[in-house]
Formats: sequence, C-alpha cells, structure tokens
Amino acid sequence: MVVASLSLRHLTRRYGQVRAVDDLNLEVPDGAFVTLLGPSGCGKSTTLNLVAGLDRPDAGTILLGDRDVTTMPPNERRMAMVFQSYALYPNMTVFENIGFSLKLRRRRASEIRDRVTAVAEMLDIAHLLHRKPAQLSGGQQQRVALGRALVKQPLVFLLDEPFSNLDAALRSRMRTEVKHLHLALGTTSVFVTHDQEEAMTLSDMVCVMRDGMIVQSGSPADIYGKPQSMYVAGFVGKPRMTLLDGSLQRRDDGVAFVSPDVRIELGRAAEIGLVDGSWPTVVLGVRAEDVIVHADGSASGRARFGSTVGLMEPIGSDTFVELAVGAATIVARVAPDMPISLGQPVAAELRPSGIHLFAKESGERIVA
Ligand SMILES: Nc1ncnc2c1ncn2[C@@H]1O[C@H](COP(=O)(O)OP(=O)(O)OP(=O)(O)O)[C@@H](O)[C@H]1O
Ligand SMILES: [Mg+2]
Repeated sequence: MVVASLSLRHLTRRYGQVRAVDDLNLEVPDGAFVTLLGPSGCGKSTTLNLVAGLDRPDAGTILLGDRDVTTMPPNERRMAMVFQSYALYPNMTVFENIGFSLKLRRRRASEIRDRVTAVAEMLDIAHLLHRKPAQLSGGQQQRVALGRALVKQPLVFLLDEPFSNLDAALRSRMRTEVKHLHLALGTTSVFVTHDQEEAMTLSDMVCVMRDGMIVQSGSPADIYGKPQSMYVAGFVGKPRMTLLDGSLQRRDDGVAFVSPDVRIELGRAAEIGLVDGSWPTVVLGVRAEDVIVHADGSASGRARFGSTVGLMEPIGSDTFVELAVGAATIVARVAPDMPISLGQPVAAELRPSGIHLFAKESGERIVA
C-alpha cells in the first residue's frame, strides 16, 4: 500500500531578499487534513507550490511517503491542486474541464466518462456537465474545480484558499462539503487559508504561519486553548482575545496583574503555571467566554474586577459586551437575556483556566 504521508524538511524559498519560506518543517500524517493559516504574504501559497512542484525550493526536501519528490515534475507527484481562482477552461464544457487531465493521459473514452460522472455525482453537478463555465454560479464553478482535482484520484490534495471568492454562506456550505469529502475519501490534504474559522472547523491540525515559518502547530483545540504567543492568540478566535498591557506584582499570597486601569488577582504562581523569569511588562489575554459578568453586582472569584457596561453586540445565541475598565475594554460573552444595559456598573471575573499571560517584549506565553 502506498503511504501518503508528507514530510517537509528545512524547506526554504527566497525571492531576492524575501524569505518566502524559511526553514519550514512539517509532518502531515497519511490521511490527515492539515491547514496552513496565516496573514497575507506569510508564505502559504509558496509552501503549497513547492509541495505541488510548481516551484523549486532553494533548500530542503519534500517526501511523499518515503519517496523524495523535491525535484520531481508536478505531473508525476500524484498530487492535485485546487486554486483560489478556479482557472477553468472557458471554451470547454464542465465534462471536458473535469476530464481534461485524463484525456491528456490518453485514458479510454469509457473510463473518462465513468470517472467524470462519478465525480460529478459526488459533487452534485451531474446535471451541469454540458454547460460552459460562464453559465455556472461561483459555487458551481468551484465544484468543477474540485472535480478536476478529484478525478485524478491523487494521493494528496492541495487546496489554496479555494473558497475565498465565494460569499459567506456559500463558503460555509462548501467547507462542510469538503469536510464530508475528506471523511469519505480519507485523502491526505493540505489546505491554505487566512480565515481562522475555516482552519479551525476543517482541520485535524492547524499550522499558524508568520514570515515563512510555522510558529505553532497543533489541534484546533490546542491552538485555541493554549496559544504559545500573542501573535497566535490574536489571530485565532472571534471576537479576538482581549489583550491588556500591564505588569505582575508578586506577594507572598500570590501574583496580581496590575495596570493603570485595573488590578486583578491571579493566584499563586504555581497555580497559574507561571514560568520562572522576570517579566518587566506582560500582556494579559482573556477570551470573551472566560469573562463572567454578574448582573446583580457581586462577584466572588479571585480574579474579579468592577466595570461598566459599554457597547453590546447581540448575535442571537449570545451577546458580546464591551466592559469598560478605566480606559481599557474587556470583551465578555453573556446570555442574550442578561438584564444589563449601557452604562450600568457590573461586577465581573475571569475564569482562572482562561487566563493567558504573555511577555510583552517577546510575545511568548509565560503560563502553562
Ligand atoms: N514570484 C515571486 N517573486 C517575488 N516575491 C514573491 C513571489 N511570490 C511570492 N513572493 C513573496 O513571498 C512572500 C510569500 O508569498 P505567498 O504568496 O506565499 O504568501 P501567502 O501567504 O500565500 O499570501 P496570500 O494570503 O496573500 O495569498 C510574499 O512576501 C510575496 O511578496
Ligand atoms: Mg496565497
């Protein structure tokens, strides 16, 4: 049996002074769905192009199973790529678009017909096979692009922001379909996106990239729950994690976070897993669901603070509230029916397990 694991080792690609991919290492297990997540220009597409063979690295190796494919031509790699711009052939029908790669390989007409039909049925576009791309909606065109990749029966799927041209509703539907396809086919997949929600919902493993490097990789729960840097913390999660600048004050009975706006008792250093070291300035991070608001004005937890209700943003299932604390703002998630209103003083507290601390200077996480 062919093992379709993928290993990227010390992969580097420079364009002049720019290190688009910088000594990148990544292991993708056979059958896994891995996402490269990061802002524009961080090297996601370059990485994918190197894997596909559309570009050559300056250094490093790419292994598919135990085969070194670093310099192998793209069409021998048994990988299929789906691009952001679908790049369908405008003069060909949907059938011809999907079957084109098989025709190039001189497959028999009957085999092409069978494989194209099977893929079209899987993607729910069997009724569109005679149409030209211009006669299709954006979502249908993207399905054809997926079909073109699927029909090759590749060992690895490479998907570069395949849904970014679609509107939000369609994007989320295509996301679900790709997840179903992956569950059904089990093909090793590397997916590129700058949309954190897309990465979190689809992946077995998320790799957060910055400046050509992977700065953290792990399960979506890991990345969300234990961001190893302020960069990752700020990139993942909606609304964004609240980040407050301040310093730590140590006393016998524990550590407090102190800023001109607020003082919050955090507990003993060992309890919060504070890493040894001196941190002149820190950043406290907390997600909205880890801020508990008490409409009746009393909070009993250690990490409590007083605040004033600011802007409220109801999204139906929950409401996000901006709590004004001095000049700072802490965002909390509350039940939609919580009886609070603009300008009302409320007590709030941080869930101890939801407190993140970062060293201001390096941006690194300093709690376990
Ligand atoms: N052919 C090229 N020549 C010169 N520089 C390039 C080339 N291709 C990419 N770069 C640079 O390499 C870096 C990484 O580009 P890349 O396309 O991989 O980013 P990306 O993460 O895919 O971004 P986006 O989300 O905008 O697609 C960028 O700084 C880009 O300007
Ligand atoms: Mg790109």
